[in-house]
Amino acid sequence: MISIVGSVDGKPAQGSRRNGSPGAGNDPAGPEWNGWRGERGVKLYEKLAADIEALVLQGVLLPGERIPSVRQASQHHRMSITTVIRAYVTLESRGIIESRPQSGYFVRARPGEPAIELRPSRPSAKPSAVDVSALVLSTLRSIRSDKAVPLGSPYPDAALFPWQRISQYANNIARRYAKWTMLDDLPPGSSELIRQISRRYLENGYAIDPNEVIVTIGATEAINLCLQAVAKPGDTIAVESPTFYAMLHAIERLGMRAIEVATDPVEGIDIGALERLIDEKGVAACMVMPNFQNPLGFQMPDEKKRNLVAMLTAKDIPVIENDVYGELYYGKSHPSSLKAYDTAGIVLHCASFSKTLTNAFRIGWALPGRYRDVVERLKFLNTLTTPAIPQLAIAEFLKNDGYDSHLRRVRKAYAQQASIMAAAVRRFFPEGTTTSRPAGGYVLWVQLPEGIDAMEMYHAALERRITVAPGHMFAPGATYRNCIRLNYSAEWSPGIESAVQTLGKIAQHLLARNRQSGEDNHDHARR
Ligand SMILES: Cc1ncc(COP(=O)(O)O)c(C=O)c1O
Repeated sequence: MISIVGSVDGKPAQGSRRNGSPGAGNDPAGPEWNGWRGERGVKLYEKLAADIEALVLQGVLLPGERIPSVRQASQHHRMSITTVIRAYVTLESRGIIESRPQSGYFVRARPGEPAIELRPSRPSAKPSAVDVSALVLSTLRSIRSDKAVPLGSPYPDAALFPWQRISQYANNIARRYAKWTMLDDLPPGSSELIRQISRRYLENGYAIDPNEVIVTIGATEAINLCLQAVAKPGDTIAVESPTFYAMLHAIERLGMRAIEVATDPVEGIDIGALERLIDEKGVAACMVMPNFQNPLGFQMPDEKKRNLVAMLTAKDIPVIENDVYGELYYGKSHPSSLKAYDTAGIVLHCASFSKTLTNAFRIGWALPGRYRDVVERLKFLNTLTTPAIPQLAIAEFLKNDGYDSHLRRVRKAYAQQASIMAAAVRRFFPEGTTTSRPAGGYVLWVQLPEGIDAMEMYHAALERRITVAPGHMFAPGATYRNCIRLNYSAEWSPGIESAVQTLGKIAQHLLARNRQSGEDNHDHARR
């Protein structure tokens, strides 16, 4: 318990604890991890703190503005005075608000701003073979380890999936399933699911042709089939730098080469740089993730999406669009996709339900534009069919169960957790650390000061039962050796906060050690 006697007039209590963030344990290894949900203890104050932090980061509460008094907040939210004080102290320790004696609590100047911005990437413009799958597989295996805090996971926290409803549908369908023949499942996939997918696009403001949809085993299969449809072994494929490793895996599997394209952490791929590479290096296709890119989290502006499609159409270069996070936006409306600007059929759009409903069923799809028939045939050759029961169970959920209200809950949770995670990194990590500012999705990209090696950090964290995704997984070369990706899809808890604090300590330690050995080498050279 925090022992504060709160003033009830909006003014901070005498002797309020400025640095006592509840739950930030002092044990560097943190409390024992109890699964994604961690030990909750008190929930209400965390929730209030997260709501206020989100309002500050969204610019609703401005720097310097006074926030409601403890008494007002207590009445308004029907929470006890103690809970509100606890939330305010948490926000204070996170640097979001400050107390001014005899005046109350105020939003701190520019609380959400990292000291330095992430810069656009500047990768080497050389095509290279890709060989990241062994590293990615071993990292993903470590994430499976039971008691590790899975900050390195690519998957969302399953606690937010409507698993019970979906599995009920699956059970009911399984009981009736014997009546059907396998032929109903042949590509392009279940007609009922395709109908629901098409309806969903329409609800999001974009009418697709249902005949274009091919159901796949996750977006992973969609990406692989689409790449295979547009390029051949030995071809060069342009990717964002950094990029999600599923894109690199497809290139690796098909014996192609990747060329990294400079990418802005807020606006996405550099169209001019991509155009030059196409002209100079003979790129066969490109792969991008314009909405909430993994790992950078940006949302490419509409105008830029339009320009990218126009440039690629003029050069007749196909583009594979990974849109698995499209529904996980933090803004007011669903983002557009490259597909919406495509008039020539060059966009092969890939998506899935793995990030919104469940990754256990592995249901994805492709809208492959003018490559539709090739992709359908490759789907048949690759896996024959996509399992029918998961397709039908998801179709039933989409038809009956309020996908929209489910998504609203998930988006709100991720938006809050994004700001809490970024604030925790700013608080615990060494000076010079910068982070992305995700506009959707559930991952944060963290650039550590030069000299910290992400693989070293990964191993040190694993010893303390925390996983991170090292930057090495997100480019064909070692371009991002001082970066890590953190997953914030789980509800914030003292266990997670403590894990982030531990990561910060590891980073501080590696930095100090490297600086010391740099100084020793320097002294040695002078002698
Ligand atoms: C950015 C991104 N693309 C693609 C995938 C693969 O999606 P699926 O599980 O539907 O194959 C993932 C899964 O982690 C992802 O995070």
